[in-house]
Amino acid sequence: MTIRSVIRGVGHYLPERIVENAEFEESLDTTDEWIRTRSGIERRHIAAEGQTTSDLAVNASAAALKDAGMSVDDLDAVIVATSTPDLTFPSVATMVQHKLGMKRGFGFDVQAVCAGFVFALTNANALILSGQAKRVLVIGAETFSRIMDWSDRSTCVLFGDGAGAVILEASDGDGSSDDRGILSADLNSDGQYLDMLYVDGGVSSTGTSGKLRMQGNPLFRQAVGKLASTAHHALEKAGLGADDVDWIVPHQANIRIIQGTAKKMGVSMDRVVVTVQDHGNTSAASIPLALSVGRDKGQIKPGDLLVTEAIGGGLAWGSVVLRW
Ligand code: ACO
Repeated sequence: MTIRSVIRGVGHYLPERIVENAEFEESLDTTDEWIRTRSGIERRHIAAEGQTTSDLAVNASAAALKDAGMSVDDLDAVIVATSTPDLTFPSVATMVQHKLGMKRGFGFDVQAVCAGFVFALTNANALILSGQAKRVLVIGAETFSRIMDWSDRSTCVLFGDGAGAVILEASDGDGSSDDRGILSADLNSDGQYLDMLYVDGGVSSTGTSGKLRMQGNPLFRQAVGKLASTAHHALEKAGLGADDVDWIVPHQANIRIIQGTAKKMGVSMDRVVVTVQDHGNTSAASIPLALSVGRDKGQIKPGDLLVTEAIGGGLAWGSVVLRW
């Protein structure tokens, strides 16, 4: 008998306000056409004034709990992947616990930028496999709109706000790749790439929260190779190959990165969940958002083999292979 961490529920939340590409034409030297053709993005959701990352996370969590038929009393732990916390501390996870009325267990945040959800899911799996927790709420939630330089056309048109959540539960498997749940993971980071994507402020440097800075083109070139490689390694660890994959659920940064990675992996685009056109890049929220939307649209079905892959600031990148 092998313990497996199985996804019992999934949910998401997107702020009400939708900003179409055309809206940027009023304030920036850009066009809907440039944004669509270079990134695949058509619109994004932006949080309302006063609406924080923990608010988005709580709404996504409530949907995931409902989907799982569970209450907060069933949870042992909460992990939030985010780079845009409400406050420097405490963690968004403890705020989510409080807002959900969760009086037991523990919570903490994981910061691996756009790869955050993959890192959080892997940590949640480790807690379950080590017997520290039986049920873990894993959330990706971001308000990247708050760290945009709205005068920088090369970044502000690419990002959006949102949250997605899953509930992982310990379950018995037989140790084979036919088991439901998380089958393998591959995590990587390399700090030499800091300049490619960072926020130019912080508690111990400037005392401000700063704005996002990105060298889009060099990052693009790093992304496809590293994403295909991490997905390959994770599949290999599970004793599986690209032919076994029902769905790639990638980080949604740019449709050309998503297409390039799928091509390199040898998986056709009709087996890729794509939401980037409607959400933009929501950083750590993008994979759980895509899982939730993909499930709701009837793409992801019980028993399907999924590969998630993501890369973000650090650089940090990784992949989780799981059976839905
Ligand atoms: N509208 C019009 N023109 C623009 C805009 C805009 N919004 N933004 C940049 N340009 C211009 C540039 O100034 C440049 O002009 P120049 O040639 O006169 O200097 C030109 O468009 C081409 O710029 P490139 O950066 O070479 O364009 P590219 O094809 O690389 O596309 C993009 C840019 C979309 C940013 C792409 O490089 C990309 O997606 N990179 C990866 C970014 C990414 O994935 N980041 C997230 C990963 S990690 C995370 O999710 C946090």
